[in-house]
Amino acid sequence: MKILVATEKPFAKEATDGIRQIVENSGNELSLLEKYTDVNDFYKAVADAHALIVRSDKVTAEVIKAAQKLQIVVRAGAGYDNIDTAACTARNIVAMNTPGQNSNAVAELAIGLMIYMYRNTFTPGTGHELKGKKLGIHACGNIGRLVASIAKGFGMEVYGYDPFISADYLKANGIIPLSSAQELYSTCHFVSLHIPATEETKKSIGYELLSKMPKNGCLINTAREAVINEPELVKAMEERPDLKYGSDMMPSNAVEMKEKFGNRFFATPKKMGAETAEANINAGLAAANQIVKFFQTGDTTFKVN
Ligand code: 3PG
Repeated sequence: MKILVATEKPFAKEATDGIRQIVENSGNELSLLEKYTDVNDFYKAVADAHALIVRSDKVTAEVIKAAQKLQIVVRAGAGYDNIDTAACTARNIVAMNTPGQNSNAVAELAIGLMIYMYRNTFTPGTGHELKGKKLGIHACGNIGRLVASIAKGFGMEVYGYDPFISADYLKANGIIPLSSAQELYSTCHFVSLHIPATEETKKSIGYELLSKMPKNGCLINTAREAVINEPELVKAMEERPDLKYGSDMMPSNAVEMKEKFGNRFFATPKKMGAETAEANINAGLAAANQIVKFFQTGDTTFKVN
């Protein structure tokens, strides 16, 4: 079987070497398309692939149409909003993710952004410490729970809101459960976002929540930019000169944000939460192993469609 790795943002070399080893040791063939700039190259490369590994690469209906032999696509990572799962299902293609494999890298970046924002993006001036501050984890999956556990080491008080996880489970993970997003935002100095981008969550973080944050409120986004209502974020930050926003994605209105808010706003130039060798190795190798297992035994653990 031909397994294509199509990564506009490539894995670390150790990860691609490991993927190659898994693929070839199982008698399959690896094809690599890295740093492509033209989607037509993706269409061409996927034409004879039986399996596909991607990162945030968009697996659209057009890609699926071009991939006439495709049986399985694995998003090496957590969020699969880049995959047209309906198009996969319509063609009986299994779509999977690799949950948990890159979580630690993202959690560490969230904490790094918190420090960076509270120290005025490392520009001269008096900042604040994390110790004693209240941190709200908005969605307490793998990443959220890791952020919580690291934050406790900084002496933060950690709260969480997640309608899909029981209060007892959150408490067992050292998180004080709150019963609504409103309560989370009005309680916590920091909110760290870990919700996926879905039809329900897109543009859901806006003025109503942000304007309720306590003094020196700071929103940290290592999830998806699509969940932010950008004009409402601007409105809240205009009204409240103490609010800050640190993001691992460039907002569409980044120029306006930088101009208006200076070092109260920061965004990484390119999403880098999962950009560690460790995360690349964990997620990349897991993706390769999941595909090999699928071809060998039909295993569909981690199927999302
Ligand atoms: C994920 O959903 O796993 C992260 O957003 C990482 O995305 P990336 O593989 O494009 O860095």
